Amino acid sequence: HLGLKTETLGRHIHFEEEVTSTQQIALKLAYEGAKEGTLVIAEQQTAGRGRMDRKWFSPKGTGIWMSLILRPPIPPQKAPQLTLLTAVAIAQAIQEITDIVPDIKWPNDILINGKKCVGILTELQADPDRIHSVIVGIGINVNQTIEQFPEEIRAIATSLSIEKGERIQRAKLIQEILLRLEYLYKQYLQYGFRPIKLLWEGYAASIGKEIVARTLTGTMKGIALGITDEGVLMLEDENKQIHYIHSADIQL
Ligand code: BTN
Repeated sequence: HLGLKTETLGRHIHFEEEVTSTQQIALKLAYEGAKEGTLVIAEQQTAGRGRMDRKWFSPKGTGIWMSLILRPPIPPQKAPQLTLLTAVAIAQAIQEITDIVPDIKWPNDILINGKKCVGILTELQADPDRIHSVIVGIGINVNQTIEQFPEEIRAIATSLSIEKGERIQRAKLIQEILLRLEYLYKQYLQYGFRPIKLLWEGYAASIGKEIVARTLTGTMKGIALGITDEGVLMLEDENKQIHYIHSADIQL
């Protein structure tokens, strides 16, 4: 029982002990017509997925592994804005519950002390001009100890409890995230991306700093200037040329 205070998000919950990936289940439910706000949560994922075909380590009972179905009346090109919006909602919720101010790393990672504790994966079912559904996948390392991470990611990953030094209640965090997500999502549908962008920039540690962006076509180094009103990353290279980056992996 999650004790949600939301109106739409999480009003239909599919709770599973073990799944391959909550994304897979949510995609199927969305395809079958599940309502906006339907949430799939699992205690454990055996094939959790990350961006760029990576695995997402999702052991039993320690983290939040969930996927939310949205049906926003926006064109598919704007869907990445929902990833940024989700990152803001999660950053706010983490701050509220732990008093730690996390960093958002464009487009979708949340870091504490330079280590990743949240990943967001948004997937679309869409025609060229219309979104049928957006599946927002959220993975949060909540109560893992450092030994519970695979050795190869211990240097770059963390959990909220490691950073805070105490256990965190998962249900409370989920409540807080959904409440903020619902509020920001309403704002977004009413006023567009701009108010979200300002909040996002408040959490983005990389703005004004040098970063390396690895895109499908190559690697680019420069200063992260910020994001556009569309949510696209602006990178200034050494020749003062500005590049607009829609999708990449960022190294700080
Ligand atoms: C990333 O940082 O690469 C994104 C990670 C997203 C992980 C979440 S956990 C819940 C949902 N189900 C998945 O298989 N992936 C997402």
